[in-house]
Amino acid sequence: MLKLWICGANGQIGQAINEVLDPLEFEVFNSDKEELDITDIDEVISFGEINRPDVIINCAGVTHIDVCEEDPKLAYKVNALGARNLAIISAKLNAKIVQLSSDDVFDGRSLDPYNEFDKTNPMTTYGRSKLAGENYVKEFTQKHFILRSTWVYGKGSNFVSHFLERVESGDRISVAADQFGSPTSANELARFILYIIKTNEYGTYHATCTGTCSRYAFAKEILALTGKSAELKAVPTKESEFSVARPAYAVLDNFIMSIIDVYDFPDWKSALKDFIQGGN
Ligand SMILES: NC(=O)c1ccc[n+]([C@@H]2O[C@H](COP(=O)([O-])OP(=O)(O)OC[C@H]3O[C@@H](n4cnc5c(N)ncnc54)[C@H](OP(=O)(O)O)[C@@H]3O)[C@@H](O)[C@H]2O)c1
Repeated sequence: MLKLWICGANGQIGQAINEVLDPLEFEVFNSDKEELDITDIDEVISFGEINRPDVIINCAGVTHIDVCEEDPKLAYKVNALGARNLAIISAKLNAKIVQLSSDDVFDGRSLDPYNEFDKTNPMTTYGRSKLAGENYVKEFTQKHFILRSTWVYGKGSNFVSHFLERVESGDRISVAADQFGSPTSANELARFILYIIKTNEYGTYHATCTGTCSRYAFAKEILALTGKSAELKAVPTKESEFSVARPAYAVLDNFIMSIIDVYDFPDWKSALKDFIQGGN
């Protein structure tokens, strides 16, 4: 049985991994901030040495863009140094590590999907701290999988949940039509994580559902699938009181996955349908 240590287990990706994994296949240690703060190197080493996981999955992070801008020290402490601490214990235990990262390591100015070989150029504190986390993981351990994803939704706070809350309010909702991405189900990302950790195909991956849409098209699809109605207006981000400023182009090309040719993500619409209709 593979021993997994999931850090940030209460977040939406941590919860999704717990939901999709087969408990007969994995022994799981879940921890979140309350049980184990990943920024405390001594705690991290002691937890690792006691439990001796085969794989560490780092889902912990400061994920609110505004919080990162307001408190850059916290952003770097958790997103960069926390990742470093987990990489250090991974190397010590000869364990594999999965580091979750983001399209925010790119500047969002491209007109084509970013692949794993494209130059990073983060524009926000969140993006810079995530890139620093990636670099620490590469520096401290070889057996790493760095997975960059985008527009993730699952059980938690995300575009789908915020949008549905607004729909309930009955107000007209103006949604950005100039932000593009690939909505990615946390459960689909979790399935890929559980797949890749059994391989030795280390390195950096773009890991998103396929296909691209605007925030506005994403919102329209949520309405269609839930059967709810709302007055929607397509607007530029700066005129939207609903859409926060985000990279204009957050589309990632799952290029390495396509080379290895063993794993396919579903398209964003079918994954969204599964999530909304089946709750997964
Ligand atoms: N959501 C997306 O669209 C997306 C896209 C690409 C990549 N990612 C990355 O994927 C990872 C997980 O994302 P998510 O959406 O699951 O995030 P999330 O729902 O915000 O979960 C993050 C979890 O980490 C916990 N945490 C914060 N600081 C911690 C610390 N010092 N020690 C231990 N745990 C700590 C949080 O606790 P509190 O809530 O109590 O602070 C929360 O439970 C993040 O690294 C994120 O950057 C997310």
